[in-house]
Amino acid sequence: MAGSPMSQTGRQTDASTAPPAHVRHRTLSPKRPKLETAGMADLFPYYAGFSFEWACEELASIRTSDSDIVFDPWNGSGTTTAAAQYHGLRSVGIDLNPVVNIIAQLRVHIGEIGEICSRPPDTADVEVALDDPLLAWLTPPTTSRIRSWTQALSEISGPASTLGLVALFRVVRRITRSFEGSNPTWVRRASTMTQLIDVPVHALDQMIVGEQETILQRLGAEGNRHSDVLLATASSTNIPLADSSVDIILTSPPYLTRLDYAVAHARELAVLSIDIANDRTLRRELMGTTLTRPLSGRPIGSYGVEATSLIEQVRSHQSKASAGYYLKQLLQYLDDLTSSLDEISRVATPTASMALVVQDSYYKDIHVKLAEICAEEASTRGWTVKDRAPFEVTRLLTMMNTAAQAYKKGKVSETVVTLERRHDGSGAKVCE
Ligand SMILES: C[S@@+](CC[C@H](N)C(=O)[O-])C[C@H]1O[C@@H](n2cnc3c(N)ncnc32)[C@H](O)[C@@H]1O
Repeated sequence: MAGSPMSQTGRQTDASTAPPAHVRHRTLSPKRPKLETAGMADLFPYYAGFSFEWACEELASIRTSDSDIVFDPWNGSGTTTAAAQYHGLRSVGIDLNPVVNIIAQLRVHIGEIGEICSRPPDTADVEVALDDPLLAWLTPPTTSRIRSWTQALSEISGPASTLGLVALFRVVRRITRSFEGSNPTWVRRASTMTQLIDVPVHALDQMIVGEQETILQRLGAEGNRHSDVLLATASSTNIPLADSSVDIILTSPPYLTRLDYAVAHARELAVLSIDIANDRTLRRELMGTTLTRPLSGRPIGSYGVEATSLIEQVRSHQSKASAGYYLKQLLQYLDDLTSSLDEISRVATPTASMALVVQDSYYKDIHVKLAEICAEEASTRGWTVKDRAPFEVTRLLTMMNTAAQAYKKGKVSETVVTLERRHDGSGAKVCE
């Protein structure tokens, strides 16, 4: 593992946020450093990922046996599953976004790659479908060459194909950088033909081969012991696992900040031929999405004190649309979060442990205490909060939203909440 645990700072120390005396002393922040040199983080700077180093340390402190099964219901770029593999533990990771699942696949199978896919077959240009989503950024000839690659990769399958796909993600992102703005989760599309990016075939092929070589060299840093890793594209609200089947949950729920994880990956999804501009299914299903859908029917009165207080603050906020659109988004998020906690509790063993990395945020001037909400909702589902360790967040994506800057905000923390399954079956609330 690269770096020393003390190389990251950020632990809050002021009295108002200091953890109670009984909690374990923590120094390592879960926040991924700006440049985490171990493995995938600097190759695919997935903005919401937590640090590999932190995940390894956390697993080392939670695990009780070599047969523990680790689970991440919001696995993202697969930091949890890579860390479990580092410890030789079996693991399962699910995420609704197929792009991040491919990254997670690569992280665990990189050691099996013998040689890279060095070029697509020497066939004539692949015909480009008129509705190919890559045409939002690339000229038809450049799109055609990318399609020659995706076709060739689908024929080889396995880890070498996964490596080729991740290389394509990085090349497409690199050549379309001019469409990015200050908000890394939003990417423009070409509005005229002249804006489309054209890269000569030879140069494009060289970039794709070069990316594969770079990734192969760099990913070795994560270390690869053998362990079973199961990765699936699935929802945390409907987990494809049997009851009582996982021992450790190490995860980070999607933020409640209206960041659109699907839009952030629009170009990588386009490489996979998924067009989020025409098909809104993925955007609508992701937690924290800005698109609304019918709720599950869970009564609002079933939430704990923290969630109920937030609902009331948003409902009564003076700003336009707070009591309408924003309230609906919040209720949808809480519905998804609590359905996910129901599912996580179902698949956890009666002695399971859980570590949640949860980021607070602000909705206008309202402090969204998401860590408190998660702790409280988990405690009503049979979990006991063992520890709450807040770390101050200094780089916030929502700070880039100028409209949001109109409201006064306090500090934002990312909190590591550790929980254990309660044994006494009392069901009593334990968070203060
Ligand atoms: C905070 S990120 C997790 C990052 C991860 N810990 C890492 O290191 O890369 C939250 C993830 O939840 C995923 N997600 C959102 N809604 C989901 C759902 N209903 N089911 C499963 N995953 C979902 C997003 O695609 C995103 O990858």
